[in-house]
Amino acid sequence: MDSRSWTSTCSGGTHVVGESRVPIKQGGDIITARQQGRALAAQLGFSSADQTLIATAISEMARNILVYAKVGEIIVRPEHNGKAGITIIAHDAGPGIPDINRAMQNGYSTSGSLGVGLPGTKRIMDEFLIVSEVGKGTTVTMKKWKT
Ligand SMILES: Nc1ncnc2c1ncn2[C@@H]1O[C@H](COP(=O)(O)OP(=O)(O)OP(=O)(O)O)[C@@H](O)[C@H]1O
Ligand SMILES: [Mg+2]
Repeated sequence: MDSRSWTSTCSGGTHVVGESRVPIKQGGDIITARQQGRALAAQLGFSSADQTLIATAISEMARNILVYAKVGEIIVRPEHNGKAGITIIAHDAGPGIPDINRAMQNGYSTSGSLGVGLPGTKRIMDEFLIVSEVGKGTTVTMKKWKT
């Protein structure tokens, strides 16, 4: 694929659709990350319903960063691996997750919350990979493809 695949046309003319990184340090950053993700999804031509799902996935992962790791970042970028899509990476250098299988179960929470963030987010995305090491941090990489 050539670089033209990375451009999109909107009211301001043709421009490159790129990656954005949002540091997560406080509650307001969740809103910013959510908006960045929704805007990129819109530029890429995702339906309004999919834009909402993508924004929700970003909120959940950003909220986990804030609650469990305190700081981290959300990266959103276009994916063009034969098909068009969006990739979201939520990364932190926090405490890590000792038992990922358990954390992925509905209702498991170490903060007395609902425990639906991870399993719910996995359900609404097409690809979901979580890599975590205790004492090192957690990285969630997820993708959604345009249908
Ligand atoms: N970034 C992270 N770093 C460390 N632990 C995490 C992280 N994200 C999730 N966890 C662990 O995985 C558990 C499950 O996360 P999940 O988002 O599914 O539920 P929750 O945050 O507890 O509740 P909810 O998201 O429903 O409010 C958390 O309770 C926490 O123990
Ligand atoms: Mg959560």
